[in-house]
Amino acid sequence: MCAFAVDESTERFMSRNSDIADMQAIQEFIDEGLVREVLNVIKSGKEATVYRCRAHPSLGAKYTAVKVYHESGFRNFGNDAVYQEGRVILNGQVRRAVRARTEFGREAQLALWVDHEFEALSRLFEAGADVPEPFACTERAVLLEYVGDGQSAASQLQHLELEPGEAGDLLGRLLWNIELWLAHDTVHADLSAFNVLFWQGRAKVIDFPQWLDPRFAPAARRLLERDIRNVGRYFARYGLDVDAAGVAADLWRRFEYGELG
Ligand SMILES: Nc1ncnc2c1ncn2[C@@H]1O[C@H](COP(=O)(O)OP(=O)(O)OP(=O)(O)O)[C@@H](O)[C@H]1O
Ligand SMILES: [Mg+2]
Repeated sequence: MCAFAVDESTERFMSRNSDIADMQAIQEFIDEGLVREVLNVIKSGKEATVYRCRAHPSLGAKYTAVKVYHESGFRNFGNDAVYQEGRVILNGQVRRAVRARTEFGREAQLALWVDHEFEALSRLFEAGADVPEPFACTERAVLLEYVGDGQSAASQLQHLELEPGEAGDLLGRLLWNIELWLAHDTVHADLSAFNVLFWQGRAKVIDFPQWLDPRFAPAARRLLERDIRNVGRYFARYGLDVDAAGVAADLWRRFEYGELG
């Protein structure tokens, strides 16, 4: 039996079956004593719905974000061979089920993606990167630091106009992050100003499930350059020019020679 305090928009939202499944996913965090109640939907997309929740005091924050993955939506990753390269499923039963696309296989693959995002966030947060602190994960959801306040969640950088003078520093900081991630064997692989949250003058990069390990994934070099190009595209409006090919080449060379970090 689940008990939730929900606002009107969330109530409307819960009329669909998938949303009831979302609430069941969040209930696991409530049962673990990490979350008090669901407050509202921050954003719902094809892959996931992100909720703002009241955190349990033990978390040390007033609010927390829960990203619940949709079983029907995550096919984007599953069908994209690029993101599968270099990844190995060690459990034979799971491997066969994923390949056969059985229901168990889909659930198992979803859990692998959730776990993959949580793993990257944990490693990068620990390394000092500008990512939300990850608190916990289940097979369907990640519990992480909420970026925003009681009135509103942080905006995606894409939808923001920065103050004069802010842009250069922020660009430098994002490039610093990309280098730090690479030094920790991580290429985001879906980086753009849509996946950067900006709050009180600071950036937090989100949405890591498709990250690649550059030691093993052949597409990592190309996607590193694409990430840098996407970031550069946003900053072009401030007259800042990023030589994505040059930056990526330099980073990759230093990565290969073990000169990063
Ligand atoms: N920790 C957070 N704090 C506040 N808002 C968040 C947080 N994480 C995600 N969001 C909001 O939810 C949106 C979707 O999150 P995310 O990009 O991780 O999921 P997604 O399913 O991949 O979405 P999309 O397909 O839109 O990229 C973000 O753009 C942001 O608006
Ligand atoms: Mg996103």
